Amino acid sequence: MKNAYVTGASQGIGKEFVRALAKDYNVFLISRSAADLNKAIIEIEPKSRGMLKAISLDLTKKKEQEELASILEKDKDFEFLVNNAGFGTVGEFASLDLEQELDEINLNVKALVLLSHKALNKFKKTGKGFLINVASIAGYLPAPGSATYAATKAFVKSFTESLHEEARPYGIYVQALCPGLTHSDFHERAGIEKSKYPSLLWQNANEVVDESLSALRHNKAVCISGAVNQSAISLTEFMPRTLLRKTAGLFLKFDRK
Ligand SMILES: NC(=O)c1ccc[n+]([C@@H]2O[C@H](COP(=O)([O-])OP(=O)(O)OC[C@H]3O[C@@H](n4cnc5c(N)ncnc54)[C@H](OP(=O)(O)O)[C@@H]3O)[C@@H](O)[C@H]2O)c1
Repeated sequence: MKNAYVTGASQGIGKEFVRALAKDYNVFLISRSAADLNKAIIEIEPKSRGMLKAISLDLTKKKEQEELASILEKDKDFEFLVNNAGFGTVGEFASLDLEQELDEINLNVKALVLLSHKALNKFKKTGKGFLINVASIAGYLPAPGSATYAATKAFVKSFTESLHEEARPYGIYVQALCPGLTHSDFHERAGIEKSKYPSLLWQNANEVVDESLSALRHNKAVCISGAVNQSAISLTEFMPRTLLRKTAGLFLKFDRK
């Protein structure tokens, strides 16, 4: 059995990727809290075919990013990577803690770029591999009130679409996954009040993962999960940028905890 790696694997979307991939792969789960990773392993293990293993690392830190990169480099059975770990911050950029904004870039962008590089070089050698980078529908929008987060996700979407084309001739599948509002701890951590968003806008993490893996089988470059999100993003393409900025700003600003 080959090996898959999922960052941000202890909960939310990452945990659902682990659950799905564990049917066909040994899965390495990466996030900071060893206790949460082990909890996820105990929950998923009874229904998994492969082995599950926790790797506790803080991927905002360069040294720990490099530690994971070196594990990937040495693993001869490495075939699947999901760059999922990420967090968001909400508020006027100038009033937010700068160190945290920079850490957001370290995790959402820098770790993802480093690990994508390692993965593609490995997959090119073996002639097979799968890379999913988790962006967001926020990557399609200017987002006053969530400026850094939306910019990191715009990077991930654009970067990954380009990688998709570069990797295709080698038989490597690359996807930018763009979820919309998805039930997880993400909003609580970002200080966003979930209850103010209508229920029709929400998906469960397992639904997002099912859509992503189904799109990957057809080697789709971008997967926007959920019909509502797909329609909303199509609509934004026809909106004047000024209106889009203001609407996105209202959506984020007034729903802060
Ligand atoms: N939920 C949504 O509505 C939504 C929508 C669009 C896109 N997304 C994207 O989907 C991805 C997963 O989000 P989620 O909703 O599943 O979030 P979540 O429930 O908050 O889970 C985040 C995961 O990332 C890990 N993590 C956080 N900081 C880390 C760090 N410094 N180093 C290593 N791991 C770290 C967390 O574990 P530890 O805290 O123990 O490290 C956890 O396992 C993110 O990239 C997010 O931007 C989410």
